[in-house]
Amino acid sequence: MKQSEYADRIAATDSSMLAELFIASSDPKNISFAGGYPDQTLFPAQALQDSFTKAIQAGAPGIYQYTDAKGPIDLRSILAQRHLARTNVQTSTDEILITQGGQQAIDLIARLFLNKHSGLGVEAPTYMGAISAFNTYEPTYFEIPLETDGLDVAYLEQQLKSHRGANRIRLMYVIPDFQNPTGVTLSVLKRQRLAQLAREYDFYILEDSPYRDLRYSGEDLPTIQSFDTDGRVLYVSSFSKILSPGLRVGYIQAAPELITELAGLKSSADVQSPNMTLEALATFLNENSIDDHINRMKPIYAAKRDAMINALHEYLPATVTFTKPDGGFFLWLQAPQNVNLLKFLKEILMPEANIVYVPGQPQFATSISMNTARLNFSNVPLEKIEPAVKRMAELLNKYL
Ligand SMILES: Cc1ncc(COP(=O)(O)O)c(C=O)c1O
Repeated sequence: MKQSEYADRIAATDSSMLAELFIASSDPKNISFAGGYPDQTLFPAQALQDSFTKAIQAGAPGIYQYTDAKGPIDLRSILAQRHLARTNVQTSTDEILITQGGQQAIDLIARLFLNKHSGLGVEAPTYMGAISAFNTYEPTYFEIPLETDGLDVAYLEQQLKSHRGANRIRLMYVIPDFQNPTGVTLSVLKRQRLAQLAREYDFYILEDSPYRDLRYSGEDLPTIQSFDTDGRVLYVSSFSKILSPGLRVGYIQAAPELITELAGLKSSADVQSPNMTLEALATFLNENSIDDHINRMKPIYAAKRDAMINALHEYLPATVTFTKPDGGFFLWLQAPQNVNLLKFLKEILMPEANIVYVPGQPQFATSISMNTARLNFSNVPLEKIEPAVKRMAELLNKYL
């Protein structure tokens, strides 16, 4: 089929580089610093299997039936309690919509707020999967640069001041905790200011925080939503990083009227999430402590982060800088302006060392960035991190 036969929004998207990277990062001969996968040795496989068996035994025949598009009430009630415990925001079951991962949550929220050319604020860089979901709605992007303490709120304010008409920012997408791809965390003052700006300039915030529970150093910060007084923040979380992405379960916590609209959109997209999986997850959460599970994983991920940071510190040329995240799965490399890290990846690192990362460029909604890259540390065996970083740094030293 010719590309011209597809809808314009599809023809405009070039996903070939990412498809190539995905294949390379799943190839067992490569060491992948590329994906955003959890460490698969940490999945609580037996407990999950037991939860599926028990949920199906206890729930038949209703478990095989259609359910509410928002998800079963028992799971929404557990999520409402967890949301309160983890974020201090009082929540009822009609403020929760269960989605197929955070990815569907992002897509549904974009569908609710964005017309073609609507103003959409995004961090620069941001999560690639969100960019590809947003592109479908053909928004006008406002890229907001990142600083060491998260997005540049003063720059955002300038943009809000100078674009007040039809093309103003209607939705701001933010990943405040251990951001994908940079690992940067938004400061408390900026969280507070962002919530105020949303009120002053009449926009909504999509607060996407799948890594919030995976903090390895420092203290938890209040969510942006906790500073929101008029229902402008839609908070998105997911079980993918803390339990298993194979479940495909995430949720949106937002004002009831927004949840009702989003449930309608979800119903049009897929009717509901799989009831059997949702009841199995409810059983798992009732019979196991997810916090104990998270606390068991944290030192393992922290050791991987430290191994990567120490190796980068020891071997990287001084002109290449990198972030030191307090949690999450990623850190961000920045080489001097004239160094092309996509070319280095394709022509040297992959063919000569079988090492893969995600180059910076596809992680920007509109701008070009050739001298940056994202490194993942969660899914590489600990003992492989130091030698692979050393090899990468040796090749990069020669390339500079
Ligand atoms: C920032 C962010 N949001 C959302 C997602 C989507 O994850 P899932 O749909 O598996 O919950 C990811 C996955 O990498 C992510 O990094």
